Amino acid sequence: MNKALNDSFHFERAGLWLKNRAVLAPLTHNMSGAGGDPGQAELDWLVRCARGGFGLLIAAATQVQPGGRCWAGQPALMTDAQQQAFTTLATRVTQAGTLAVVQLHHGGVRALPELNEGAPVGPGEVAPGGRYPRGVRALTEEGILAVVEAFVRAAERAQAAGLHGVELHAAHNFLLCNFLNPLHNQRTDRWGGTLPNRARILVEIIRGIRASLPRAFLVGVRLSPESYAHIQGIELPHQLAVAHLLADEEIDYLHFSMGDSFKAVNGDPDGGSLLGAVQAGLAGRVPLMVAGSIRDATSAQLALAGGADLVAVGTAALGNPDWMTKVSRGLPLLQAPFTATRLEEVGFTASALGYLAGMGVLAPHDAA
Ligand SMILES: Cc1cc2nc3c(=O)[nH]c(=O)nc-3n(C[C@H](O)[C@H](O)[C@H](O)COP(=O)(O)O)c2cc1C
Repeated sequence: MNKALNDSFHFERAGLWLKNRAVLAPLTHNMSGAGGDPGQAELDWLVRCARGGFGLLIAAATQVQPGGRCWAGQPALMTDAQQQAFTTLATRVTQAGTLAVVQLHHGGVRALPELNEGAPVGPGEVAPGGRYPRGVRALTEEGILAVVEAFVRAAERAQAAGLHGVELHAAHNFLLCNFLNPLHNQRTDRWGGTLPNRARILVEIIRGIRASLPRAFLVGVRLSPESYAHIQGIELPHQLAVAHLLADEEIDYLHFSMGDSFKAVNGDPDGGSLLGAVQAGLAGRVPLMVAGSIRDATSAQLALAGGADLVAVGTAALGNPDWMTKVSRGLPLLQAPFTATRLEEVGFTASALGYLAGMGVLAPHDAA
């Protein structure tokens, strides 16, 4: 079947429709208050993206439990006030004809000591020093159950706020990714060892959400398909096996954070495409969303032709919140890196600009 970016998309299990296959990727922008209260500017920016034509928005990595914080301006969904902010967001985004999910997140070994009390937590203990000045504390059985509870509670708040679903962040070396990774997770209890044990924390979160919320509430999961940069231990065959376990749990989509959607499989001497391998590995069991180097109509269409059902736009959306409108009308897109003037024009504040400069999306002469 030929898929087009402008086609509507049906989440069959949830019975929800998107008006097109374009998704705003989760993009941390560092505009929330110190306690995680979403700022007006970040809500306005997300609404601007909804009005800009995306079928689905994924609100940035959002803290679900004290101890899991990774950015000074990270949003959280742990209090009534935070839930109220997401209610405002859901109302405004829905009015624009877009669906919105929030990405639920725990930093795990990447939680910043200066933003959290005590050492970061992970599946296993890491001695203090280097990247972990306070070390990493291994979660106990009770601690793991509390994490599961925190994710489920945040999903309940998201649903009460009127959002259409949640995406569980199990990519990028954060807590749920740490559990999946055999190099991090060397536990010998029911949360480690075999692949089903390493995926258990994720499965329990999904079951908890499914047990308490209506089936129309979307649950997606973001995975890293393979090791990247300095992160080791994430192997494609393992991640595909995890994907099948998750498909058994009635998730609505899998979101592979590809880095580059058009790259070859790591270490494949024949240069076989990663997207092709992911699509073949999933065997159509669950809708596939990909993010990474989706910049314009051509790359979006190429990813859809290569097997993706939904394409998530990251960097390009920062300077083009109206990405989908421009693409559908054949209008030119601004190219990254963007000028500070452009980023301010679309609503980013000084704290966002500081963060975006560190992420390399601010034009060098503007990144003071
Ligand atoms: C500024 C910035 C913030 C990001 N924040 C998140 C995030 O909150 N959660 C997440 O899973 N990925 C995050 N990412 C990764 C993007 O979602 C996306 O996967 C990545 O940028 C690759 O897509 P692109 O080539 O379209 O930028 C972020 C990326 C950027 C550039």
